[in-house]
Amino acid sequence: MVGIRKKVLVTYNMFRPGYSELIKKYDVTFPPEGKESFSYDEVLDMISEYDALQSMFNFPVDKQLIDAAPKLKIISNYAVGYDNIDISYATKKGIQVTNTPDPVTEPTADQAMGLILSVCRRISELDRRLRIPGAVKVELLGNLGLSLYGKTIGIIGMGRIGQALARRALSSGMKVVYHNRRRLEPAIENLYNATFLSLDELLMRSDIVSVNAPFSKETYHLIGERELGLMKSQAVLINTARGPLVDEKALIEALKGKKIWGAGLDVFEFGDYPSPELLEMDNVVMNPHTGTQTIDVRHEMAAYVSRNIINFFEGNGPVAKVNLK
Ligand code: GLV
Repeated sequence: MVGIRKKVLVTYNMFRPGYSELIKKYDVTFPPEGKESFSYDEVLDMISEYDALQSMFNFPVDKQLIDAAPKLKIISNYAVGYDNIDISYATKKGIQVTNTPDPVTEPTADQAMGLILSVCRRISELDRRLRIPGAVKVELLGNLGLSLYGKTIGIIGMGRIGQALARRALSSGMKVVYHNRRRLEPAIENLYNATFLSLDELLMRSDIVSVNAPFSKETYHLIGERELGLMKSQAVLINTARGPLVDEKALIEALKGKKIWGAGLDVFEFGDYPSPELLEMDNVVMNPHTGTQTIDVRHEMAAYVSRNIINFFEGNGPVAKVNLK
């Protein structure tokens, strides 16, 4: 006898190839053709029927949604971050939550490195100027940027992405210092020749400060006015993690007052878009949360979220558990 197929709801109309295994095994609902994603209210209406939810990093999975989902067994989040999910409530309800650490590590580190280069060598700014006749010329003492070679990068959050960034920084001739909740094993520190520092020491000693920590209530405004005040006047701040880790208003003041050299931001505190004042500043490079936005990674992440669900239902244990370990 053929059992009833499990039902999986995917909130976003992703490329299908990565989902082929999932589609073979279960009844998978995607938004209809031509529709980018299901809204929160649409998911709220539908979720009571589903055994699995595949949410995106910006889709809120809150208490109300979980309460509307009596059959839900697994939330497979399409992201390494899971601050969009009420993890403690999901745990209380016995719902497994999973994420996608492996596919996002290298591309996010690439994005951080790209922002570092772009801010320090003013690549985006000079590209913009070059498009306006007369706005820039070739000269020896104009258009000056900052070298990376011999400088110190301070990585806040030395997990997988932080370490992938450390490798890139080393290949550019930088020294690595880091701050983390827990100090790394000596063998890992040795790999990057990395020095563990308190947050304040790191801020005072680094030429580049990169935020690579997860967002939680403990890391809200990890970098605020006081911390920006500790940074060197030629330092650069990079955030490819989550916007609220940095106090955006304090950052704007620091940039305006030339207290730091510049910033590279892939994420913003107040939603998907930067505060308007940032748009006026040449020493800021911004991207619309594209840290994992490559064609390859989109396929890899789809396969990974699928594997988390399949392994869970087949009793092999998901690939990457966030709770119920
Ligand atoms: C992207 O922001 C992610 O958390 O994977």
